[in-house]
Amino acid sequence: MSRPFLSIENLTQTFPDGKGGQLTVFEKASFGIEKGEFVCILGHSGCGKSTIMNILAGLAEPSSGVVKMDGYEVSGPSLDRGVVFQNYSLLPWLSTLKNVTFGVRARYPDWPKAKVEEHARAYLAMVGLEGDTIHRKPSQLSGGMRQRVSIARAFANHPKLLLLDEPFGALDALTRGTIQDELLKIWGGTRQTVFMITHDIDEAILLADRILLMTNGPYARVAESVEITIPRPRSRTGIVEHPNYYAIRNHLVQFLGHRSKELAGRSDAPAAPPERVVIDRTAPGADPDPEAARRLRAVND
Ligand SMILES: Nc1ncnc2c1ncn2[C@@H]1O[C@H](COP(=O)(O)OP(=O)(O)OP(=O)(O)O)[C@@H](O)[C@H]1O
Ligand SMILES: [Mg+2]
Repeated sequence: MSRPFLSIENLTQTFPDGKGGQLTVFEKASFGIEKGEFVCILGHSGCGKSTIMNILAGLAEPSSGVVKMDGYEVSGPSLDRGVVFQNYSLLPWLSTLKNVTFGVRARYPDWPKAKVEEHARAYLAMVGLEGDTIHRKPSQLSGGMRQRVSIARAFANHPKLLLLDEPFGALDALTRGTIQDELLKIWGGTRQTVFMITHDIDEAILLADRILLMTNGPYARVAESVEITIPRPRSRTGIVEHPNYYAIRNHLVQFLGHRSKELAGRSDAPAAPPERVVIDRTAPGADPDPEAARRLRAVND
């Protein structure tokens, strides 16, 4: 089998536990991501999702294990990997516009100033930031606006890999929906590889090709890889009518509600790739999901 675009091999992370001992946050995490894939990761708070992302970004080193992108080991940050952090991390002394042009200039050093600015403005407009707002400093923006600047900044650099840590967490439901649509549109056009952390199950089903499920820490593991068997293009209102939607959703809720805990804390577990889960009620001979059918009827009645 050929090696995936991004390959995470036996990643283990321990930290000092503050009491003189060591805390193993996750261990032997192994998974691959294909070029152009959109992968979401779900898991309870503290299981190590942001830590994994920091390692993929090259901003932190794992205690053991390796990450390879395009066959090369990831060490140190690179413009090939764009990150939207959980806490936005904008440069506070620069305006909104300059927070975006800063990276674009580094990415495309040959571009004239006007082209850099036009490019940055286009990405800011895509996330709904236009007019005077783009000359304000981050401290003069709302939390949701800052998050949108951070999203525009990551996308404007056209990285090969986009790493998104709860990028829509601070957005109201309406803006969140709009930006999810924008993200799908941009991704549909560029087919960049995306790895995204979210706590929102419906968001993950709408956006992802695959959802990775993590058990609770300590000794967290990436236990399952659930394929989203709902064809694209997808829309928020359209996916709920697909026969696979509630079956997949129930599986994810069950995992996060029960199995993430039941499977947790096993330090002796052998290193293994996540179990592949394919739920497809449309396959010939598949049982229709009675619960899904009932809910659909309730929605349609
Ligand atoms: N630099 C560090 N030093 C010590 N412990 C750390 C460090 N960074 C993270 N941790 C610990 O590692 C664990 C995982 O943290 P991480 O931020 O990766 O979780 P997460 O899955 O992203 O959680 P959330 O969903 O709340 O964002 C936590 O117990 C945290 O306290
Ligand atoms: Mg986190």
